[in-house]
Amino acid sequence: MQEKEIVALPVGITLDRFISSNQDSFPHATGELSQLLRDIALASKIVNREIVRAGLADIAGGADSTNVQGEAQQKLDVIADIRFTRALINGGQVAGLVSEEQEAIIDTGKWDAKYVVAMDPLDGSSNIDVNVPVGTIFSIYKRISAVGTKVTNEDFLQGGRKQVAAGYILYGASMILVYTTGKGVNGFTYEYTLGDFILSHKQIKTPSKGIYYSCNESNSNTFTSTLTNFIQYCKSRHLNARYAGSLVCDFHRNLLKGGIYLYPCTVKAPNGKLRLLYECYPMAFISEQAGAISTNGSTDILDADVTAIHSRSCLYAGSVSLMKELEGMITAGVPM
Ligand code: AHG
Ligand code: MN
Ligand code: MN
Repeated sequence: MQEKEIVALPVGITLDRFISSNQDSFPHATGELSQLLRDIALASKIVNREIVRAGLADIAGGADSTNVQGEAQQKLDVIADIRFTRALINGGQVAGLVSEEQEAIIDTGKWDAKYVVAMDPLDGSSNIDVNVPVGTIFSIYKRISAVGTKVTNEDFLQGGRKQVAAGYILYGASMILVYTTGKGVNGFTYEYTLGDFILSHKQIKTPSKGIYYSCNESNSNTFTSTLTNFIQYCKSRHLNARYAGSLVCDFHRNLLKGGIYLYPCTVKAPNGKLRLLYECYPMAFISEQAGAISTNGSTDILDADVTAIHSRSCLYAGSVSLMKELEGMITAGVPM
């Protein structure tokens, strides 16, 4: 089949049309992944509807429960989890799900589906109460267990390089969906009056020289000397510090403007705080597709081994020049 040129699609077309054109460029595509992406887009609209009225309805604040990570759940964590899970089960294209909010794999019962999804339904949820942007992160794999059977752990533990698609939704001043299927990264801004996502950020490329560094410097008294030196380097180069505390928000800024995101292993979180499967891998796939780099301090995130569905990792991601500088310091100094 003749490959269609996705790059030629104009800014202003709907997500739906973009997905269909994208599908045509994959020989033997059946439309299942396309439908799955549409289901994610639908769920994000529903979650966005809840988020924009969080201050009015009684859905801000804590849910008096903890998730598998032992972290306090916010009401919207639970709501977003339910909305995405329901949309993906009803959509019928997903045989199993992993969610930050659920300890075990979710068996959707749709065993004939060939995809599995790992997701962080609501990222940065501690920011909800103060109206700071939050997000959703997703990662899609083709299952390796036989179609027609129940999904297994191994379906989710294939490694970052096996991702078929990955993306995030940023619920910000406007809602934007950014995703990749391995043919570049594109962003779609939600047009409220149309109820549609519109291609607004075509073939995103991260500037190789970054202008921002983003990390939680309140942990700096436990940073390694290498990391301390690197932060000093950022300051000496007059990079601006920007840190919202929502990965999606911080990552998105640096993806577009250039910069570096750092979440090291800390005393509080010795194995890192972020989750490999549904935070680091998808952001790493997007980084690579946008011409940026991501590592855990020693290995490209996409090549880092995942041993459990809720494994954590350190994450350093961003513009090539800053990442090269960081890598040079790591090689010369103490490990991170
Ligand atoms: P989540 O809300 O899904 O648990 O994720 C929170 C994560 C991530 O969004 C953010 O970058 C990081 O936690 C912030 O951590 P600190 O508050 O330790 O800086
Ligand atoms: Mn998160
Ligand atoms: Mn979350």
